[in-house]
Parts: sequence; C-alpha cells; structure tokens
Amino acid sequence: MDRIAPGALSALTPQSPAQWQTAPLLFQHRLHADPRFAKDAIAGLIDRYPRRGYSIVHMGEQGAGGRRVWREGDFGGLDGARVLDAIERGRLWLNLRDGHEHDADLDAAMRGVFAEAGALAPPVSSYGHRLGVLVSSPGAQVYYHADLPGQGLLQLHGRKRIYIYPPRLPFLSEQGLENIALSQLEVGLEYRPEFDRDAQVFDLEPGQGLFWPLNSPHRIENHDSLNVSMTLEYWTQQIRRSQMINVANGILRNHYGVAPRSRRLGGPAFYAKAALQSLWRRSGRLDGLRRAARPIDFRLDPDRPGAILDLGAPTPRDGRDA
Ligand SMILES: [Fe+2]
Repeated sequence: MDRIAPGALSALTPQSPAQWQTAPLLFQHRLHADPRFAKDAIAGLIDRYPRRGYSIVHMGEQGAGGRRVWREGDFGGLDGARVLDAIERGRLWLNLRDGHEHDADLDAAMRGVFAEAGALAPPVSSYGHRLGVLVSSPGAQVYYHADLPGQGLLQLHGRKRIYIYPPRLPFLSEQGLENIALSQLEVGLEYRPEFDRDAQVFDLEPGQGLFWPLNSPHRIENHDSLNVSMTLEYWTQQIRRSQMINVANGILRNHYGVAPRSRRLGGPAFYAKAALQSLWRRSGRLDGLRRAARPIDFRLDPDRPGAILDLGAPTPRDGRDA
C-alpha cells in the first residue's frame, strides 16, 4: 500500500478517483491518530451535537421470519461519554450527520481528504461534499444497501468487515436504484448469501479507508469492538445526471407503467427525463412519495448503559439518514 507523504492526511492522490470508479480502493490515512478525533474528543462532539443533526438507532433482535426491527431514539439527556458507553455495551448505531457543518475540525478533515484525492478540480470536479460520523456497537451490522451519491469510509476506532459487491445485475438492478431514488430509503435491495462469492471483502483497521465505485452495494459487520468511522459523500455532474435518470425512470415505471429502455446521460431522451423529474420535484409529488418519517420511540436508559427505555407517544423527527 502507498505510504503517506509527509504532512499529508492520507495516501490519496489525484489518480485515486479514477481508480475507485472501477474497483474499491483501500488507502491509508492519519485521522485515527489525530487527538481531535480521539474517543474523548468524539464524546465532546456528541455533547455539542444539535438534536436535529443525529439519528440513534436500536437494532432490535431479529423478528419473526428474520424481519429486521430498527427503532429510532434519543440520548435522553446523557452526556457524550455515557452515550459512547451505551453504544459500547448495547446494540446501537449513532449517525452524526453533516459533521462538516457542525464542527470546524471535521470540516477541515473532509476538505483535506478531498483535496488530496484531487477531487476538487477537473477531470473529477466533485462537489456537494458531506461528512458524517458513525458510532456503532460491537457486532453491529449495516445491511445490504446501495447509496446514490459517491461514498467513502474512513475507519477511526475499532475494526469492521465491509463487503462490496459489483454495481450490476444480479447484485443491483436498475429498478432497485430507481426505488432508492424515489423513496430515499437505501435498504430494500434483494440480498442473497451467494452474492458473497463475488464480493470484495476488507477488514478495515483504524487508519484505513475505502472508496468504491458508484452505487456498489455493500454491507458491514463490526468486529468485537466499539466502531467509530467517518463517512464521506460527494457528487459529480455525471452522478447528478445519473440520479435524474434514476428518478425519471422510476416515475415512468411506477406511475406510467412504462419500462424505461435507456439510461443515457445526454441527448433528447435525457433532457425530457430531466424535465419530468424536475416537474415532479417542483410540484411536491416527489416529496409526497418520500414522506415516510420514522417516529422517535426510545431514549437511552441512564441507569443501565446500553439499554433503552420506551417512550410513550411517538414524536416526529426531521432530517434524513446518510
Ligand atoms: Fe452505504
């Protein structure tokens, strides 16, 4: 693996984006050793984080027929150190969304990584950069899913195994992408255990990071340790156009009974679809499809770290998951 240049945050180079467009790219970084991102600093970050900026999810036991039970909750007044303790002992998953907007150190780290990857200038010229911090329990899983923007992951603390699958049939269908684009729910792709034969599998250690090809489905299994990771998101003009096609083809298939025949990112058909999805956006019909708000229905138990307390009446939440 490449060595990190003196003074650099990572081993990324301007050639890196071209590499990760065709295959997952494992790289080294130094953010895990930076005191600004040590565990006690993450606890301080949790203390300061605005309520609208985080989601904490409890991964319930597997229900009947293997159905997943995810519940969304609240810190319940615990400080950051106790929240970390709860996550270390429980079955929890915390997403501090848009960290670059809430913390100057996270913003500087995000800008540094994208600058080193040469992703700020042609030929890649990415934009819409976002950074999240994910804190999750030992043994926690992120189920098989695909993301619409470009994605990367930097491991800060703990170890996790990530499976990355090719972004094509049978792992990912056009219809699967369209459904994600319409609902904004990333899970819901069909997963079959035999897919694992074609996955690239990485055991991420602190100081390692991964970028992968656009829309590659992936799933994650934490090893037996508290995990803290940074997630990165980016867009390019091509990704934005591809997203317009996902939305427009999804509308045609689901609401007009037309099986889309093209995913071209230019020409008259593209511009007609761009107009169609824009009309649905502006008329509010798209938001209507996406209004599947999940209620807040637990808070962390202050007396039993890792346990949760049911809340009575659900309260609506705003914001979105990464
Ligand atoms: Fe993801």
